[in-house]
Amino acid sequence: MAARAAVEFDLLATASAMADVLTADRRHIHMHPELGFEERETSAFIQRRLSDAGVTFEAGIAGTGVLATIAGSGGAGKTVLLRADIDALPIDEQADVPYRSQNPGVMHACGHDAHTAILLGTARVLAADRLRFAGTVKLAFQPCEERFPGGAIKMIEAGVMDNPTVDAAFGLHCTPQLEAGSFGFRVGPASAASDRFTISVIGRGGHAARPNSCVDAVVVAAHLVVLLQTIISRETPPIQPAVLTVGAIHAGDAHNVIPGEATIRGTVRTYDTGLREQIADRLRELVTGAARAMRAEAKVDYVFGYPSLVNDGPMTDLARSVALDLVGAEAVFVAEQALGGEDMAYFLRRAPGCFFRLGTGNRARGITYGNHHPRFDVEEAALPFGVAAMAGVALRFLGS
Ligand code: NI
Repeated sequence: MAARAAVEFDLLATASAMADVLTADRRHIHMHPELGFEERETSAFIQRRLSDAGVTFEAGIAGTGVLATIAGSGGAGKTVLLRADIDALPIDEQADVPYRSQNPGVMHACGHDAHTAILLGTARVLAADRLRFAGTVKLAFQPCEERFPGGAIKMIEAGVMDNPTVDAAFGLHCTPQLEAGSFGFRVGPASAASDRFTISVIGRGGHAARPNSCVDAVVVAAHLVVLLQTIISRETPPIQPAVLTVGAIHAGDAHNVIPGEATIRGTVRTYDTGLREQIADRLRELVTGAARAMRAEAKVDYVFGYPSLVNDGPMTDLARSVALDLVGAEAVFVAEQALGGEDMAYFLRRAPGCFFRLGTGNRARGITYGNHHPRFDVEEAALPFGVAAMAGVALRFLGS
């Protein structure tokens, strides 16, 4: 154990020595955010930084994705994949920081700028001449995490899990709810299957004062919204997590006209595959049946999005053991179970692994805004911890 701890200590020292570069990289990416599959400048920046570090890579994977490969000088062995997402969100930044987004309406509000800077730092650490390890590390810079169908599935289709075959996959996510210098882990389901639906209600429009000669799509839609909630409250097991949210209703545009059409859009989040399918089936039945009972017609477009992300037990233990050596038990937490979606799930369906939480909050400095908030920010002191953890996880897996 002592020797193992010494290796990790050295990793944190190595990562901390490059803190200024990590911060500069993160700020550069933060100032030039790009939406999913449009990350051309971000991709070019990643390629430039990898070239600077003497790391070989393949660009243009799934459009703007980059796959770097580092073969250990210690000979053949296992292969581990480390993943960072590189896209930003359609949000207008409101944070008052010198490195504010230069692209109006686009912002790194989910920390993917930090994920990218951390993976670039990890590449520099692992490519250092003096570091000897057996096996191969693949570093996947993945486009478009934020919008289904996402870049992960496309990178997998492009073959990033093959030649050599990936034996384990790891990734991290910025978490402002945890203080910088801490980590969170969770075995099993850690993010939800994220599906969406669009319901088109078709009635018959007409004069507001003659409802009897119309089929009011607004009234039908109102009933549907309430009925949908009974799927969760009355039909799913209370101990199984499930969320159904209607996020948009659109119909009509006048005081005195009964609209003939209405549209309802929403999302469903679950962990369990059987429950996921049950809710989709019941939503279709309930909506079409209820609309018919009210003399209307309803069409349902149900799209299955990202599957739930499941962390492997032994791989999570391995990653947690690295974090324990880096920061001690008082800074290693059980990550909260959340119902957000995350396409790292696809990598973890192809290989066992762990997606863990990197604390990036700083309550004293007011860095507490949640992911996707226009004032979201990252405590940059967390960056070296991210690098040490990613490099440490890769090395410990290859050495296991
Ligand atoms: Ni994210």
